[in-house]
Amino acid sequence: MQIDSNLGMYLVRATEAAALNSGRWMGRADKHAADQSAVDAMRLALLSVPFNGVVVIGEGEKDEAPMLYTGDRVGTGEGVEMDIAVDPVEGTALVAEGRPGAISVVAAAERGTMYQWQGIAYMDKIVVAEEAEDMIDINAPVADNIKRVARALGKKISDVLVVVLDRPRHKDLIRQIREAGARISLIDHGDVSAGVMATVPNPAADMLMGIGGAPEAVVKACALKCTGGAIQCKVWPRNDEERILCLEQGLDLNRVYTTNDLVSSENVFFAATGITTGGFLDGVEYMGGGARTYSIVMRSLSGTMRYLQAYHRWDKLMQISEIPYDPDGDLSRRIR
Ligand code: FBP
Repeated sequence: MQIDSNLGMYLVRATEAAALNSGRWMGRADKHAADQSAVDAMRLALLSVPFNGVVVIGEGEKDEAPMLYTGDRVGTGEGVEMDIAVDPVEGTALVAEGRPGAISVVAAAERGTMYQWQGIAYMDKIVVAEEAEDMIDINAPVADNIKRVARALGKKISDVLVVVLDRPRHKDLIRQIREAGARISLIDHGDVSAGVMATVPNPAADMLMGIGGAPEAVVKACALKCTGGAIQCKVWPRNDEERILCLEQGLDLNRVYTTNDLVSSENVFFAATGITTGGFLDGVEYMGGGARTYSIVMRSLSGTMRYLQAYHRWDKLMQISEIPYDPDGDLSRRIR
């Protein structure tokens, strides 16, 4: 069976639903509610997608995540089999603290094409746009990578902007970027969003460097399949326990994973919706009776990237959807 080219539109309904529900928790210091409300809404929205989806990058293992865990089935169960990667809220702390840059993300690819590890939390990563994709080497010195990327982009080194997660583990990386003469944008969270931002047309940044979540590497690779550009990454075990876990799975700690290693399909769908306004996407704007969302929907096969601005009406949605878009609304008006 063919994969429906409208799949991206189904996926964006799921990220919109997650963003609309999570955005209500912005600045309310409740990370759990910000995440749970997104997970609940996303799962309900994904259940109605006409595919046979299996979550391969999810909220964790079944024991710790009641929904959208690795192995959870989503979709109607009919039609084509797909691998699904979800991050209902990338930047839970950003939503809870009322900071910029939180997004909701879903990606889908043909079954068996997304890479899966067990118990690996972090990867060291470097991400660049298409023009510089042959220029990077994660094993080379930081300054060499920056110099080559600057040349590929036709920029001075001092114009190159590198995004880095603001973490103590990046002290030395930040020193090396400064010594190379490039500029730095430090972010609190959100290396998927930063990675995509560096690869869309007219990017707001030139490179992403440093250690971030391992699941996020796969999600980012799905986006890069659509935008072009490249990721290189290496497993980054935090301790001996994780090192042993890697070896037990036959993982080579020196292996460099590329975009195609992380997702081998040539037919990848990616959707993201802003929760709190950031450099990549604007956040949810609530109005009396509805809200506006800003999203991106992409498909690797066609290379189309669509920026969507959507207006949602609670009175209509509450009649047709199980998703509690308007928690204070009159549920008795539901027609199914
Ligand atoms: P959440 O998914 O927990 O909201 O966090 C997002 C994130 O900032 C990712 O973008 C990043 O890859 C990872 O967490 C970094 O992990 P840590 O905060 O442990 O350094």
